[in-house]
Amino acid sequence: MTETEVRKIALVTGAGSGIGRACALRLLEHGYNVVLAGRRHAALDAVAQEAQHLNGEALAVACDVTDAASVAALFDQIRERFGRLDVLFNNAGRNGSPVDIDQLDIDEWRSIVDTNLTGVFLCTRAAFGLMKTQSPRGGRIINNGSISAHAPRPNSVGYTATKHAITGLTKAVSLDGRQYDIVCGQIDIGNAETEMAARMARGVRQANGEIAVEPLMDVRHVADAVLHMAELPLSANVQFMTIMASKMPFVGRG
Ligand SMILES: NC(=O)c1ccc[n+]([C@@H]2O[C@H](COP(=O)([O-])OP(=O)(O)OC[C@H]3O[C@@H](n4cnc5c(N)ncnc54)[C@H](OP(=O)(O)O)[C@@H]3O)[C@@H](O)[C@H]2O)c1
Repeated sequence: MTETEVRKIALVTGAGSGIGRACALRLLEHGYNVVLAGRRHAALDAVAQEAQHLNGEALAVACDVTDAASVAALFDQIRERFGRLDVLFNNAGRNGSPVDIDQLDIDEWRSIVDTNLTGVFLCTRAAFGLMKTQSPRGGRIINNGSISAHAPRPNSVGYTATKHAITGLTKAVSLDGRQYDIVCGQIDIGNAETEMAARMARGVRQANGEIAVEPLMDVRHVADAVLHMAELPLSANVQFMTIMASKMPFVGRG
């Protein structure tokens, strides 16, 4: 990047660990200024610290994406510090307890929906409002779906339902954003090595009831994919991308 080029501003939710951390660092390395959001400030600070020698500037902001006031405060800080937003990566998410639906606690169901769906809605809502009025107009929203946006794992009703819902949100925002130069795409990841996916290496229940160890892939491949999506001009969009450990059980029913 030359001195005269304007740095792009990105917001990554769930940036303190796993996929969010890897993607934030990749964007920073590439010269983006990145707002790191998540509930644990210490985890965000650690990522900002790691990014000190990279090209872009990191700003750590504690935010709970399930809380409308917290998301509004996050966007106030983005407006104040950078005045615009070019890329939103809606990455924050959570899993649920692996139980039959009749055993799933109602409060836990609500928490999964709040995090994986309402959180994405709240951040997208705020980003959409900013992107449609900023100058130059427009921006890109990338939603983190999952292989579970296509096919469930056993005992995953909350996670699967919310990740399927993200596909609808992606399509609706993609359509409604057209008139404002706002593009929206989705990355569906399978078995990237993070804390959330660590159980795959220990063995997870398959559809036939067996417990099987599943292959994992390095999270940096996801970071490269998100950077590719982010770097496209607004005249082009990766609408959906599936990136997965090549031999995980999915295609051809495993
Ligand atoms: N790893 C995979 O193979 C895989 C596959 C498919 C999809 N995904 C998706 O990738 C995303 C990231 O997962 P990961 O594997 O990187 O797991 P992870 O390390 O557990 O990351 C989840 C992140 O979300 C943040 N988060 C959770 N609730 C939040 C809230 N209410 N407000 C703000 N931030 C919140 C967490 O930070 P705090 O606790 O600090 O808030 C954490 O940094 C998730 O959406 C997941 O569904 C992962």
